[in-house]
Amino acid sequence: MRRRTALSALGSLALAGTHGVFAQQPIVLKFSHVVANDTPKGKGALKFKELAEKYTGGRVKVEVYPNSTLYKDKEELDALNSGSVQMLAPSTAKFRPIGVPEFEALDLPFIFDGDAGYRKTVEGPIGTGLLKRLEAKGITGLAYWDNGFHMVSGPRPLLMPADFQGLKIRISGSKIADLYFRKMGALPQIMAFSEVYHALQTGVVDGCENTPSNYWTQKFYEVQPHITVSNHAHLQYALITNSKFWNGLPADVRGQLAKAVNEATQYTNSIAQQENVDALAKIKASGKTTLHYLTPQQRDAWVAVLKPVYHEAEARVGKQVVDDLLKSAGIVA
Ligand code: LMR
Repeated sequence: MRRRTALSALGSLALAGTHGVFAQQPIVLKFSHVVANDTPKGKGALKFKELAEKYTGGRVKVEVYPNSTLYKDKEELDALNSGSVQMLAPSTAKFRPIGVPEFEALDLPFIFDGDAGYRKTVEGPIGTGLLKRLEAKGITGLAYWDNGFHMVSGPRPLLMPADFQGLKIRISGSKIADLYFRKMGALPQIMAFSEVYHALQTGVVDGCENTPSNYWTQKFYEVQPHITVSNHAHLQYALITNSKFWNGLPADVRGQLAKAVNEATQYTNSIAQQENVDALAKIKASGKTTLHYLTPQQRDAWVAVLKPVYHEAEARVGKQVVDDLLKSAGIVA
């Protein structure tokens, strides 16, 4: 029996030789994410595909699945772990379920001095240290992808902290966002990104926070009468891969993919700001919502109410990372 199996295997081998079955198959890399193609992350993923396929001469085939078409927020991290997908770029607010809540420190309100302050932080020791924490979870952190500052919206103008009283606000998962919205008197609710539009439309939640590019491409502005361009917190992604997959790649292929990652990262980070400026202009031009900007006095009122969050965050994400961030931002809490 064993002999016959061996013989038939040999036969198949011979056949395979003639039919080219053993010709090298491309390595398939599935990249899943939850936003539209027409966003900084969506465009970054497509740029990575283009470069990865070019640099590997087709040895790697990248399949990009945008808009939660393959997996939703939490499922995608499980899928990366099981090897069903090989690359993701979740917002750093979504790493608590895999045991790396320290990332949420990047959600602290008013912590970055503009775009330059954000970049200095993620490109420096704080950012690198956070990515390193993923290694123990079997994940390799490859880069940070930018998506700018959050706006916040609801059924009425949100100008002073008191305006948030009693509003149900969707958050993406961060305990820091939970903390700051509670300080404002709101009731934060965690919900997958793919469910937000419907929840806003049907009144399951009253409001949400996000960047202009996400408001525009998900049409949140159509179901939110008032949006405040508050820039109260920042949205960034960690581009990640399954370490077993990454380390198991032939060294030359890994090098080519690393080059594609670096260039796609530079590209994404170079367009993020303008993409959001353009999205905000389109939201304004739609006439479907009213945009509000905080006066310096209103902003000061937010900062005063939110200041205790810095200290309270320590219990949720760890003292060290909060201390490091405050020091880097020059904030005395
Ligand atoms: C959200 O859930 O609001 C964001 O993390 C979505 C995204 O990936 O930009």
